[in-house]
Order: sequence, then C-alpha cells, then structure tokens
Amino acid sequence: MSVEIVRDLRGLHTSIARHRNGPLNTAASLAIVPTMGAIHKAHEKLIIEAKRNADIVLATIFVNPMQFGENEDFNKYPKSEEEDIKRLESKGCNIIYIPNVETIYPDGFDLSINVPKLSSILCGKKRPAHFEGVCTIVTKLLLQSGADYAVFGEKDYQQLLIIKRLVKNLDIPCQILPIETVRDENGLAISSRNQYLNTENRNIANNINKIIKNAANNYKNKDIESTINFVKNNFLDSGIKKIDYVEIRKGENLDVISNNDKSNARLFIAVYINDTRLIDNIKL
Ligand code: PAF
Repeated sequence: MSVEIVRDLRGLHTSIARHRNGPLNTAASLAIVPTMGAIHKAHEKLIIEAKRNADIVLATIFVNPMQFGENEDFNKYPKSEEEDIKRLESKGCNIIYIPNVETIYPDGFDLSINVPKLSSILCGKKRPAHFEGVCTIVTKLLLQSGADYAVFGEKDYQQLLIIKRLVKNLDIPCQILPIETVRDENGLAISSRNQYLNTENRNIANNINKIIKNAANNYKNKDIESTINFVKNNFLDSGIKKIDYVEIRKGENLDVISNNDKSNARLFIAVYINDTRLIDNIKL
C-alpha cells in the first residue's frame, strides 16, 4: 500500500484506525517520527528505526512557528514537500501528516508545555522560548496520534532528554527511541540547516566533528576547563568566528560536571558559521 497523506486531525485519526485495523491487526503498533520537513538522510534513519520497532510508521511534517525566535529562520526554513513525501515513502513510511498552522494552533489556542529546568540551559538559554515550542508541538503530535513509539535523533540531545522528561512527567504512554547522530562523509552532523552553508562555510563546518572527537579522545587526561578551552581555541583557529557555547555536562541529566567526577560526560557545542547556527555533541 502506498503512503497516505493526511492534513487534518480527522484524516489522521481515520488513517491510523484504518492502518491499525486494516491490513494489519488491531494490536498493530504505531511509531511517530516528527519532522519539520526538508527530509535528509538522518530523517531516513529515524524512519528505519521506527519501522524496526513498530508495524505502522507515521511521519509528520510541520515547521512549527512556536519554536522559532523572532530573528530566527522560520520564514526561510527549507521546504520541499513533494521530495519529502517521496523520500519518506521510499523508506516505508505508511502515513504522512502535514497539518497547517491553523490545524495545530486554531484560533483561541492558549497553551504551552514547559520542562523548565532542562530547558533553561545550553540551547534553551540561548533560544529562550524554543523548547516550550518543541514541547507543545511534540505533546500535541503524541496525543493526536496515540503513537506507541516516537523516534528522535541524538544530534538534538537536549531536545531528546526534554522530550523523555515530558513524556515521563505527563504519563504519556509512548516510548522514546533515540538514534545516534547521523553524519556526512566529513563527519558533519546532518541537519536541514546545512543547506544554508556555501562551500566555504562547509569547509569550516567540517572541522567541528574533528575538533570535538579530538577533545573526546583526550578528555581523560585533561580537566574540564582545559577541554573546553581546547575546543574553543580550535574552533577559532578553524575559522569559526562566533561560538555560542561550549559546555560539558552529565549525559543522563545535563547537570554540571566537576573535575572530581568526570564520568558520564558529554560535550555540547553551538556555533555560528555566517548566520547559520550549528549544534553538535559527543560522549566524552
Ligand atoms: O527536531 C525537530 O525537527 C523539531 O524540533 C521537532 C521535534 C520536529 C518539533 O518540531
């Protein structure tokens, strides 16, 4: 059966019911892969992981205005619906939900979901309303679909932990499945925003992974401060002019880390190359 495209809640519910009862049985499980479109290799990996775990795979395409700040790239966010549908279908996606803004945020919509502690650091500190927007849309999509599984990438590691906390604290019966960061042949973490980079920018961006990998390899022999300085200095030497943050935190809860207990550490970085903000992280 080819992929089914739905654009409103009624269509979504009808399609899920049909898939659950139709060619599959009533106990068929459903996995959701929320995306903002501009589908790339990393999204495809999310679909493959969804398919590995569930009978029915639902992808969503929605560029969520609520998670963009005033001066961010909402208006220029890449859109490629036709191509996205083809790619999602080729990986075995069963349903694609493409709601518009009015469907998600109808007149009178007045709600926001916040996971305040985890959202107040790293990207949340730099993009104040971002995670509230992410939490609100993800909660809506999980509740609208009733998915048993939801798949997210570790590239957005903070987002992943926030969503895990959200699901746990709201008792949403959905299991969150993480997948490792997908990288291109140069190690650059794959992101829709990489499309904004010209060749010169890309050459600079290709250094990010090398530098953080190097930091990870030498982490044992250095204190926290020296590792952070190593990364910052190497970023600057490689042509990155604007560093948003370089931090080391506990991988399981993003707590700050000290030299007395350097275990379970993860390095988190955000940089600007021209106007393009890139993030990455690595286990140390
Ligand atoms: O990671 C993303 O692409 C977005 O934050 C998400 C989870 C689809 C919510 O809009």
